[in-house]
Order: sequence, then structure tokens, then C-alpha cells
Amino acid sequence: MRPENQTSTPPPRRPPPSLPRPNDACWCGSGEKYKRCHKEADYLFLRDEQKRLEATKVRPGIISPRRPVPPEIPRPEYAETGEARRGNGRLIRTAEELTRMRRACKAAAQVLRTVGEAVKAGVTTDALDALAHETAIKLGGYPSPLNYGKTEDRPPFPKSICTSVNEVICHGIPDSRALQEGDVCNVDVTVYLDGMHGDTNATFFVGQVDEESKRLVQVTRECMMKGIEAVKPGRPVSDIGRAIEAHADAHGYAVVRSYCGHGIGDVFHNDLQIPHYFDPKANARMEPGMTFTIEPMINAGVWQNRLWDDYWTVVTADLKRSAQFEHTILVTESGAEILTQ
Ligand code: MF3
Ligand code: CO
Ligand code: CO
Repeated sequence: MRPENQTSTPPPRRPPPSLPRPNDACWCGSGEKYKRCHKEADYLFLRDEQKRLEATKVRPGIISPRRPVPPEIPRPEYAETGEARRGNGRLIRTAEELTRMRRACKAAAQVLRTVGEAVKAGVTTDALDALAHETAIKLGGYPSPLNYGKTEDRPPFPKSICTSVNEVICHGIPDSRALQEGDVCNVDVTVYLDGMHGDTNATFFVGQVDEESKRLVQVTRECMMKGIEAVKPGRPVSDIGRAIEAHADAHGYAVVRSYCGHGIGDVFHNDLQIPHYFDPKANARMEPGMTFTIEPMINAGVWQNRLWDDYWTVVTADLKRSAQFEHTILVTESGAEILTQ
């Protein structure tokens, strides 16, 4: 039984971006409490919309068995156990370390170029992984992601590169999913060679992509370059994120906050963190001889991210697209030198 003056629940309409609390007035202007008016309809509407959205989004595929690395290839410390060393606090490279660093970075750049040329509709990300794995080994290198990064919260990474498609921000695991016309696919390559890691990534188009995705990818590449141009000895590393965030903002894009650039050398990720947004607490000073990555992840929608239940794949919270570019750089007397050119 309902009282005379109570109208039946109005038909569902798109709810506003921020929902009222149950006892607040409904957004529709009926004067009823939200919980007696549109609340139930809104929740059903949003659940259905989420389902429709998810149906068109990237889903996990099948991950192939682990690819072996020939015994003559020198391996990083985690290759068997999955557990990586922490940095030893030394952030400045000696001349001899730099020589080896240059070789590792050059190899990573070469693998990225080779894999990039193979990106096309119909190719699975697992096939890209196989190509990267084989190319790194041919160059005498170990594909750094393979078996990297085991912690209490996650297993080690099972593949040799990261492939991050559309709404996947980073750390996508190569699998049986075939690339589709219109996808954007980031390929992130790290190679361990001569005792050093070189780390670089780029976002590639699969055939023709929509204008909005082209703009996102272009602006993201510009963000990386603005970050590199902000490198100056004596300045705090926060200058880098400031420059990146300003450019992203100007184009209406959001900067991912949960994943940063990092010091790199004999250790894949050392203690130095390079945020891609302005963080006044990032007050470490840049010094000639430092090597670190700049790898902004830029989102078309919100900055927030979610983790798939594989513990690695990072996606945008709103499932809109994300792009990324990465270089490993050396701080010089006057600025930055890109090592992964
Ligand atoms: N290459 C990534 C980076 O830019 C890290 C990948 S972690 C891995 O830092 F475990 F997935 F390899
Ligand atoms: Co990196
Ligand atoms: Co990388």
C-alpha cells in the first residue's frame, strides 16, 4: 500500500555524475528523498551501463608457457627466484658503467623498433612477446620483465615485455588476444645486457585509429619530451612532473599518479622515483651521471587506476584509453641525453 500522494518510481534516466545521499532530495526535482525516488533505478542503470561497457573492453586471454632463455645469456639476480634486489643507493654511474648502460639501452631501443614494426591487426600480443624475446636474446640480452617483481602481493611477471592495449595503462601481460583495427598498443621493452638494464616504450596504432586516440598518443609523446627537456643538473626531479602535468592539463588529459619513472642501472627499479605529476615532495636533486626513466602514462578520462585480478594489468578506472612513452635518460652537465634512442 502506498499513500495517495506518493507517485510511482519515475522511469530511469541518466543519473548525474555525483549521486545524492539516500536521505538527500532526489536530483530529479520531485522533492522526494533520493532513496524513495530514483536511487534504485540509478543503481540498475549504472550496473547495466558498466556491463555494456565491459563487453567492448580488453579481456584477459590465455598466457602461453614460459619462454626459456639459453643458459649462455647472463641473467639478472631475479631470473630464478623472482625476487629483485633493492638499489644500493648509488645513483651516479661511473664511466665504465655508462658504457655498459649505453649498450643495454641501445639493445632495448632496437627490440622496441622490431616489435613496433610487427604491430598490426590479427597479431596476438603473445606473438609480439615471442618476437621481443627472440630479438633480445639474439642481441645477447635477457628480457628484463621475465620473472621480475615477485612480492608478497603478486607473482613474478610471466612474460618478456609488457603489452598494454587501449584502457590498459601499463604492465599488460602478452596473451592470446589478437590486436584489432583501431586499437592502440603500448609495447614496453627492457633489456638486461652487460649487467645493466635499458628501458623504453612506445604506443603504436593498429591500422586506422579514431582522431581522439591519435591526439591522446601525440600529446603523450609530447609530455615525455617536455619531461626530458625539464632535466637540468641541480634542479629537483619535481620539475619533470611539473612540465608533464602542465602539458597534459592544457589538453584536458589526466596524469597517472600510482606509477612513476625510476632510477635504473644494475637494478631494474632503484630507489629514485620520478613522478609524472607535480609533487613538491620529489625534492631529490638531479646530478650529472644519474640514469633514470621518464615514462608518463596519460589518460583520456580520469587519472585513477584499477588492478586486474592477475595482480599486474593496470587499467583506467573509467575504462577510457591511456597512452605512454618511455625513455631511459642520462643527466649531463647541461641537460639530458636520451640513451634509448
Ligand atoms: N618496463 C616497466 C617500466 O617501465 C616495468 C615492467 S615491470 C614488469 O618500469 F615486471 F612488468 F616487467
Ligand atoms: Co620504466
Ligand atoms: Co618500461
